[in-house]
Amino acid sequence: MQYFSGRFKEKASNLILDFHSTIKFEERLAYYDVMGSIAHVRGLGKQGIIPLEDSKLIEKTLREILEDLENGKIKLLVEYEDIHMNIEKNLIDRIGDIGKKIHTGRSRNDQTAVDLKLYLKDEIKKIQSYLIEIIEILNKLAKENKKTFMPGFTHLQKAQPICFSHYVLGYVEMFRRDHQRLENCFDMMNASPLGSAALAGTSYPIDMEYTSKILGFSRPVWNSLDGVSDRDHVIEIISDISIIMVHLSRFCEEIILYCSNDFGYLELSDSFSTGSSIMPQKKNPDAAELIRGKSGRVFGDLMGILTTMKGIPLAYNKDMQEDKENVFDALDTVKACFAVFNGMIKTMKPNKEKMLKACYNGFINATDVADYLTNKGMSFRDAYKIVGSMVSYCIDNNKTLESLSLDEYKNFNNLFEKDIYSEIDIENCIEKRTSIGGPSEKSIDKHIEVVDKFIDEKILELKNYKLNEIF
Ligand code: ARG
Repeated sequence: MQYFSGRFKEKASNLILDFHSTIKFEERLAYYDVMGSIAHVRGLGKQGIIPLEDSKLIEKTLREILEDLENGKIKLLVEYEDIHMNIEKNLIDRIGDIGKKIHTGRSRNDQTAVDLKLYLKDEIKKIQSYLIEIIEILNKLAKENKKTFMPGFTHLQKAQPICFSHYVLGYVEMFRRDHQRLENCFDMMNASPLGSAALAGTSYPIDMEYTSKILGFSRPVWNSLDGVSDRDHVIEIISDISIIMVHLSRFCEEIILYCSNDFGYLELSDSFSTGSSIMPQKKNPDAAELIRGKSGRVFGDLMGILTTMKGIPLAYNKDMQEDKENVFDALDTVKACFAVFNGMIKTMKPNKEKMLKACYNGFINATDVADYLTNKGMSFRDAYKIVGSMVSYCIDNNKTLESLSLDEYKNFNNLFEKDIYSEIDIENCIEKRTSIGGPSEKSIDKHIEVVDKFIDEKILELKNYKLNEIF
């Protein structure tokens, strides 16, 4: 920083340079920093704050710097502290005094705020594309598995029969909400801080509406103090990612469980499994475990930024540069998890036989026996009690509800007739549940249609997305 300063008589200690510097992890912002700088100098030129030719030369040189950065021709240096100063230093080295005009009417405080928002907006679209991909994979599984029957659980105890489509569509809804949450986050951060300068705006006749528009924001921020010190969007995106990680982690937990010998409902492809160094028989769902584990570090990133922000007075304070490693880590983690998770789900096979077999122990059609009596006029509570004693009888005599004779049924209640057997048939139990969001084919088909429409809409939105027209 002292390279630009006349204030200091002594050189900064290497310790302090190194401690302050964000350049080690900030290279990914170069593209957005150049974008923000181009908008700023175009604005300066348009308003006659600097000559138009100077603004054009600065833009041309910034584009060359970006190209050189991308080709590894520029070494980013700790002594220039951050991405903003490294690029500015390069600019001045290349075009001298004209380059020195770029920082007219702006500060690194609005610069870093604008860079990060531009970057996060693009990142949101990347995560959304992973979400659309997983929703597509799950919706395909749902289409193929309407007749793959399995037990549904509460308290991890077999509860009522469902189908595999119903199961995966539960996750589809979580991921659809995640998509919407990120969209909300995008809209909330969509105000340009460029022009807030250090904290109090600027006396130069800048045109914030113009720079906001060409950067692709929907409007400039309404308060310059807030413009430079707001990091709500960082907190919000890591919160959204944390919720995604909760969903991935829950799914992974079930994959691990369902891949175990005792369940065997699912089988992962060999290419997404690992072996053991000692036990030759092992096929471990390590990837699912690692995703479940990585949720912890993302929650840590969220706690980090929340704690950093909670005591910061207005406006910019140096603490705030701690936002970057947290948010970069959360973004990198969720993207890496999705890449693996989506591949794992795409190649995973449901074991229809094992799932069906599991439907025949655990009395998962007991509710249907009670419903049978209720439909014949008995109150549900009385029916519930009778079926409870039937289950107890079955446990004592090692029987299932399907294997009781009609006489045994009648011993419990005379309302039972021969049709009880078809009433408690697993498929029938599922197909009767036609309520919205239920497991019947009718309900599933309706849901799949909604999801198909959602996917088409979101793919189109993503195809038409462009951050702005600067590049
Ligand atoms: N690298 C800094 C950050 O990430 C940029 C802003 C620095 N501003 C300042 N006044 N020191 O937050």
